[in-house]
Amino acid sequence: MDREERGDRAIILHPVFDSRLSEAALSEFTELARSAGVEVLAVLQAPRKRADPAYMVGKGKVDELIDKIDETGADLVLVSQTLSASQERNLEKKIKCRVLDRTTLILDIFAQRARTFEGKLQVELAQLRHLSTRLVRGWTHLERQKGGIGLRGPGETQLETDRQLLGARLRQLKSRLDKVERQRDTSRQSRLRSRYPLVALVGYTNAGKSTLFNKLTNSDVIAEDKLFATLDPTVRRLDGLGCGPLLLADTVGFVSDLPHDLVSAFRSTLQETRDADLLLHVIDAADPEHAQREEEVVEVLESIGAEAVPVLRIYNKNDLTEFPAGLLGSEDDPRGIRVSALDGSGLDVLKEVLERRFSSDRIIGWIDIPPQAARLRARLFQMEAIEEEHLNGSGGWKIRINLPSNEVNQLASIGGLEGRLVRSQLIDKSESKPEPWEKTASDVE
Ligand code: GTP
Repeated sequence: MDREERGDRAIILHPVFDSRLSEAALSEFTELARSAGVEVLAVLQAPRKRADPAYMVGKGKVDELIDKIDETGADLVLVSQTLSASQERNLEKKIKCRVLDRTTLILDIFAQRARTFEGKLQVELAQLRHLSTRLVRGWTHLERQKGGIGLRGPGETQLETDRQLLGARLRQLKSRLDKVERQRDTSRQSRLRSRYPLVALVGYTNAGKSTLFNKLTNSDVIAEDKLFATLDPTVRRLDGLGCGPLLLADTVGFVSDLPHDLVSAFRSTLQETRDADLLLHVIDAADPEHAQREEEVVEVLESIGAEAVPVLRIYNKNDLTEFPAGLLGSEDDPRGIRVSALDGSGLDVLKEVLERRFSSDRIIGWIDIPPQAARLRARLFQMEAIEEEHLNGSGGWKIRINLPSNEVNQLASIGGLEGRLVRSQLIDKSESKPEPWEKTASDVE
């Protein structure tokens, strides 16, 4: 585990198995390298039919790589594919230079970006899992070479100690993470109890999710022209809409072939996606590859079990295209919205769509509560259904409530004066149409 300091002047080795996909894959990988803070000195493409088991690329290409390292003075080789443990080891030995594959590079970026305690734990766990497969294999490989009881050299003993330490650290991390996840689950539960609809921004990395998030919620989540700038989920209240508050979640960006370990390591980030009432799929409309990336995001959503959540496509960076901002499709069935999170165009349309979508199943309105119905007021507070409250001049309160229409029925079951009070007032005063409520209106005297 004693590796050299991370080098930051690199050569990219790009094995090409399918020339049609090569260009896009290379530009994405270069972008990943840049996001990790690496200076790319040269790119070496290696067209191949299939991967070489020893080095991934052919021996001729390895020699070419050695020359390129000498020529440029690079201290790192980045391979745009995921290497097996032995390929990585063989390459490092042969070229005498540190090698990072795609998975390790992505893990490295995640490690640089994680900010919360939970995010950091998750990254370390994913890194150690990745490392442990390599160490274990390295060790068994040596054991096979020498074999036999009592014949283990010091190198192997060291490796075994490393492996034990690694195992202990992995267990410790897992248990800490479980605890943090339990805590987070509690806060998620309390948020779910608040019953404000949850809208999650999802999309390919760099599509502009954080910029949109900031613009809509007036906050200052980091928006950078670097991949995975947002690693930990961020949830904020979105106020000022006619339908009452919504919760908006910014999530980690997707990238094609995200290493499997990372997808599971970031399941808490993705949890927001599964719990959401609506997903805003943010697409970089100025990216020539955007159609393919849209599909990849849809696949990831399916793989994490979020396929049942309704999706609205947001074509962002519209300022860089020649199209007018606004709605695609009809008002009743919007297919997407063209917006620019940067100059704000199209965001009014997005807000209208959100309002329309979320006002139909909530009851929002002012009611008067007399002093003798304090129990009702307490109950409404408990349900986190009160948005604003004033004294009404007769010892009671004037309250603006906002709650899902199906929960009004629960309130009615309080019975007596209180139940009747809310019902009759809501029928008169609610600003939206309380359909489920009208069904029970017949039993109000
Ligand atoms: P990840 O955290 O990697 O998932 O990225 P993200 O989707 O959150 O993207 P982010 O908001 O960080 O934006 C990426 C880059 O795109 C930044 O440089 C933004 O300034 C830029 N950007 C975002 N929205 C727009 C837009 O509407 N127009 C233009 N021209 N640039 C934008």
